[in-house]
Amino acid sequence: MSTKKFYIETYGCQMNFADSEIVNSILLEDGMVPAMEVESADVVLVNTCSIRENAETKVWNRLKELRKLKKSNEGLTVGVLGCMAERIKDRIIEQEHLVDIVVGPDAYRDIPRLLKEVDDGRKAVNVLLSLEETYADIAPVRTTGNGVTAFVSIMRGCDNMCSFCVVPFTRGRERSRPMESILKEIKQLSDDGYKEVTLLGQNVNSYKDGEHTFSKLMYEASQVDPEMRFRFSSPHPKDFPDDLLHIIAEQPNLCNYIHIPAQAGSDTMLERMRRPYTREQYLNLIDKMRSIIPGLSLSTDIIAGFCGETEEEHQGTMTLMKEVGYDLAYMFAYSERERTLAYRKFEDDVPEEIKKRRLTEIIQQQMDIQLQRNKAEIGKRHLVLVEGTSKRSDEQLQGRTDTNKMVVFDAWDFKPGQYVEVEITDCTSATLLARPIQLSSITEFYGAAVEA
Ligand code: 5AD
Ligand code: SF4
Repeated sequence: MSTKKFYIETYGCQMNFADSEIVNSILLEDGMVPAMEVESADVVLVNTCSIRENAETKVWNRLKELRKLKKSNEGLTVGVLGCMAERIKDRIIEQEHLVDIVVGPDAYRDIPRLLKEVDDGRKAVNVLLSLEETYADIAPVRTTGNGVTAFVSIMRGCDNMCSFCVVPFTRGRERSRPMESILKEIKQLSDDGYKEVTLLGQNVNSYKDGEHTFSKLMYEASQVDPEMRFRFSSPHPKDFPDDLLHIIAEQPNLCNYIHIPAQAGSDTMLERMRRPYTREQYLNLIDKMRSIIPGLSLSTDIIAGFCGETEEEHQGTMTLMKEVGYDLAYMFAYSERERTLAYRKFEDDVPEEIKKRRLTEIIQQQMDIQLQRNKAEIGKRHLVLVEGTSKRSDEQLQGRTDTNKMVVFDAWDFKPGQYVEVEITDCTSATLLARPIQLSSITEFYGAAVEA
């Protein structure tokens, strides 16, 4: 047992934020207490991301700042958690003396022991990846959220091996968490007043717990609490299950929003990326999704300037995005990562300024598309889950529609965690402005669930 104070800083994706909540739970269980700010902590843990070079650069800079803090506070222990751990453990500990412990994504249960090693004067490392670890029995402690929306991790690792992606190397093989433990966590969140859950995995379509598929899990989740709504991230276009589309269409609390990463729009590029679908298959999937779920909102991930990208392939990405008309897109310039297939086999040969120019074109086109799509919402009614006060004014609230669009409206006396029916009055490319109409609920707004 230790009564040290700890502070966790998190970089990277939603999965990483979910992991920090698991680490929270492990440290509290060990008797440690949370520090309110980094300066008063005895142990600072930085949960890191390796997905692109600039994610890693940010972490390196932060570690250098923490080294300064270590100088003025000799007893301070600094640790690196997560995706950067395996790749840079030697450099971090031996060459730079920046940190004392390094812990990979599957070794969080070992943190209390590793901290004791540090107390005994040693540097401590555990970056072993596991075939089984899902932290199923650990109840995450959510200290930084809004108390309304939460993430629940349903699987770990990834077996897809897209040629650009480092995740299979940082997070290891794919494994699913037992359905019962996921449903138990959701029930607990519902009892605690949470109203929205996003189920997380690197490739949710391959979720499998015995006979239970991802579609079954989504259906069961929807039955836990009719006033709690559900999203998920991320599926793969390769084997997206049809039955899931029908379940989403039928259950009012499964959101009409799907994040479906395309990455690129031409067959030659998709092949180099080792994405096993063609442009046509992807577009057919989008058509099917929209015909089964009317009013569906879509988002995607796009990479500009991947190895060997020609101008024609870039145009392929542009036209795909236009044809689909995404409501939101996460757009990145390709960043070479060690160990990936692309690193070993292809050359990162698109010059930086061309990558940047193509990314800018992609982003500009997407902003135009979003503005058009948001304008089409004006005059429509939506059910918004209030998440908190708006960033700009205390007199306004913000929340999301079922279709994941951010909405800002006058606060009246609505509270976070309530569902409000609103009418959209104006928009930008990123936000909808609305007039509140009345307090409502999923059952009132959409009617009763259709039996699946
Ligand atoms: N360079 C740029 N973007 C990448 N992504 C994954 N790896 C890379 C990389 N090496 C993007 C993909 C993925 C998202 C999470 O990050 O679009 O879907
Ligand atoms: Fe998340 Fe991937 Fe970054 Fe790891 S490398 S934190 S899995 S985005």
